[in-house]
Amino acid sequence: MGKRYRWGIIGAGHIAHKFADALRRVENAKLQAIASTNAQRAKEFAKKYSIPDIHEGYGKLFSSEAVDIVYIATPHNFHCNNALDALKAQKHVLCEKPMAVNRSQVEQMISAAQDNTVFLMEAMWTRFLPMMTEVRDIIEDGTIGDPQLLYADFGVKFDYDPKHRTYNPDLAGGALLDLGVYCIALASMIFGKPNTILSTVKIAETGVDERSTVILEYENAKVAVLFQALDLEGPREALIVGTEGSIKLHSGWTAGSDYSLKLNNGTEKKISAETCKNGFIYQIMAVQDSLDAGKTQCELMSLDETLAITETMDALRSQWGLTYPFE
Ligand SMILES: NC(=O)c1ccc[n+]([C@@H]2O[C@H](COP(=O)([O-])OP(=O)(O)OC[C@H]3O[C@@H](n4cnc5c(N)ncnc54)[C@H](OP(=O)(O)O)[C@@H]3O)[C@@H](O)[C@H]2O)c1
Repeated sequence: MGKRYRWGIIGAGHIAHKFADALRRVENAKLQAIASTNAQRAKEFAKKYSIPDIHEGYGKLFSSEAVDIVYIATPHNFHCNNALDALKAQKHVLCEKPMAVNRSQVEQMISAAQDNTVFLMEAMWTRFLPMMTEVRDIIEDGTIGDPQLLYADFGVKFDYDPKHRTYNPDLAGGALLDLGVYCIALASMIFGKPNTILSTVKIAETGVDERSTVILEYENAKVAVLFQALDLEGPREALIVGTEGSIKLHSGWTAGSDYSLKLNNGTEKKISAETCKNGFIYQIMAVQDSLDAGKTQCELMSLDETLAITETMDALRSQWGLTYPFE
């Protein structure tokens, strides 16, 4: 049986609630502390999840002796500084996606984790879902042959609100960093780092990317075609095509359990991977398993891979002339 880990959450917003619920479902995980910029919000959050330690502001949580791992659930622009504060206080860090806004920020975070010999991982939770484990196994055992093509979309129609983090450039908004990062991470899992990056983009009134289509090309003309949008409900499907067959990830693939396997010999089957109601538990277990094994990163979502994904997003924003006000 592994060690019991005490988690602290910073930012008591939307996704922090799902994470807090997930922690209750994981063996050896204890939700020890919540920190919020707003004392009342912290208090209410703590009451809902029976959290012993309540902090106004994030600093006291970082310096708390009672916390082992910090989960960063703030908007994208804060990830780097929040993580640096936590890592320098020798806390392990699980940071919401995207790990940070650009390569330079991610590099600083990795250096701080290395300097302090603590764990760091981007919370790419989709990667840890049982469906994704099964998909990786199918690809690795050669069932669909050599993967050649990926189509994936993540389109979610948000109400247009220039202040909300999705559309707000000050909070590093835009479809790419918010949703596209999942598509690029899927492409990265299958093909690695692209050789060529092509794209189209639609820029919103606030200056952030509202939707984009991205073509990533790999060796021997293997290709990923990705679509992400803040202003369109996409089918949210993914299709991985290999030389011997294909795997279709059904609607809602980023949080999904259902997929189909179709082989060139005509056989086809629909599969449902058994998945907990709260899919965040798998990334939490991966963090704890890595720590139990004395690791400072998780092989399944390595820091090098996060860096490569960030580089692809930097290249895309450069094609679009999109820099954030604080960059
Ligand atoms: N894994 C997923 O499925 C998923 C889904 C949605 C979002 N996310 C990621 O989770 C992170 C947070 O997203 P969210 O949807 O939870 O956002 P949210 O509801 O806006 O919450 C973000 C929290 O960050 C804190 N914060 C600190 N300074 C802020 C500022 N100036 N403006 C706004 N918030 C500020 C606030 O918490 P306090 O005031 O309480 O400190 C706020 O509640 C992002 O990285 C996002 O990409 C992940």
